Amino acid sequence: MNILITGSSGQIGTNLGLALLGRGDQVLGLDKRVNAWTRKFPTEIVDLTTPWSGLPKAIAHFAPDIVVHLAAWAKVHQLVKEPAKSLENVQMAFWALELARALDKPIAFGSSREVYGDIHRHITDESMADFVVAESPYSASKIAGEAFFYAYARCYGLKTLVFRFSNVYGRYDNDLDRMERVIPLFVRKISRGEPITVFGREKMLDFTYVDDCISGVIAGLNALAADKVVNQTINLAYGQGQTLHDLVSLIELATGKTATVTWAPSQTGEVTRYVADIAKARKLLNYSPKTPLTRGMGEYVRWCRETQFIV
Ligand SMILES: NC(=O)c1ccc[n+]([C@@H]2O[C@H](COP(=O)([O-])OP(=O)(O)OC[C@H]3O[C@@H](n4cnc5c(N)ncnc54)[C@H](O)[C@@H]3O)[C@@H](O)[C@H]2O)c1
Repeated sequence: MNILITGSSGQIGTNLGLALLGRGDQVLGLDKRVNAWTRKFPTEIVDLTTPWSGLPKAIAHFAPDIVVHLAAWAKVHQLVKEPAKSLENVQMAFWALELARALDKPIAFGSSREVYGDIHRHITDESMADFVVAESPYSASKIAGEAFFYAYARCYGLKTLVFRFSNVYGRYDNDLDRMERVIPLFVRKISRGEPITVFGREKMLDFTYVDDCISGVIAGLNALAADKVVNQTINLAYGQGQTLHDLVSLIELATGKTATVTWAPSQTGEVTRYVADIAKARKLLNYSPKTPLTRGMGEYVRWCRETQFIV
């Protein structure tokens, strides 16, 4: 298949693009930044918040069979501080949908467990999201993005899939200058013997190793392209909860260093409890995540050493 990925220079986009190439698909990336990790697939530099008229030439020429929309400002706390960026997320979803509509091709969306809000549930199935639970501007942007996907499916017959990801970690995630994500930040600081501040001792989250996430996305793309699973919303996560205390202990184990930790309350807008119900993904996509955090953290730290992110 010819697959167009927006946000292709980011963590999930890079992993997805390379995995799709690896199985023989053609990939065209679309991002506002060049890909810092790979030149194996081309990237069309486009700012997706900007209106366009007519299909960009490179995209028309590529003739995608399917679009995967991953472009976004992806950090919750950053969007609490700069809420206008959440509006950009909605614009990006809108223009990605317009792209798919112009192409008349199916489109998948990288949404988030943030659409469930902070509802302190252990299990959350796909029916439980509601706009009234929006916990942060980022959460609102994903709820709005999803709403546009559902509206485009109804009004224009667009075939869609919405994936709700949760704390995806692994390869191609270490550019702390661009975005301070917790796992790379803690891995770097703990490995250097620097102190860390952990917000929310009580937090329990569902950490998803990137290969599991990508296997679910690819199963979804296959099913969407074959018209087997269409207009569905699907949680893609590991399906088990870990506390931030567990996370820090596993980083200590993987790096061989002892962390110096200051515990602080959760920050505004943060979800403090989420464990995905992945029954629907198992049923519709035969999804079967294989990497517990214990193993995934070891893999990630190994990659951080290989890329000299840590010594
Ligand atoms: N990584 C996670 O844990 C996680 C969890 C839930 C949801 N998600 C969602 O999955 C998607 C991918 O996440 P990621 O971790 O790869 O994020 P990322 O930040 O690594 O990648 C996002 C990419 O979008 C690009 N982008 C941003 N604004 C753009 C614009 N105006 N035009 C074109 N490109 C633009 C960025 O340059 C970046 O390369 C995002 O939509 C994110 O919200 C991620």
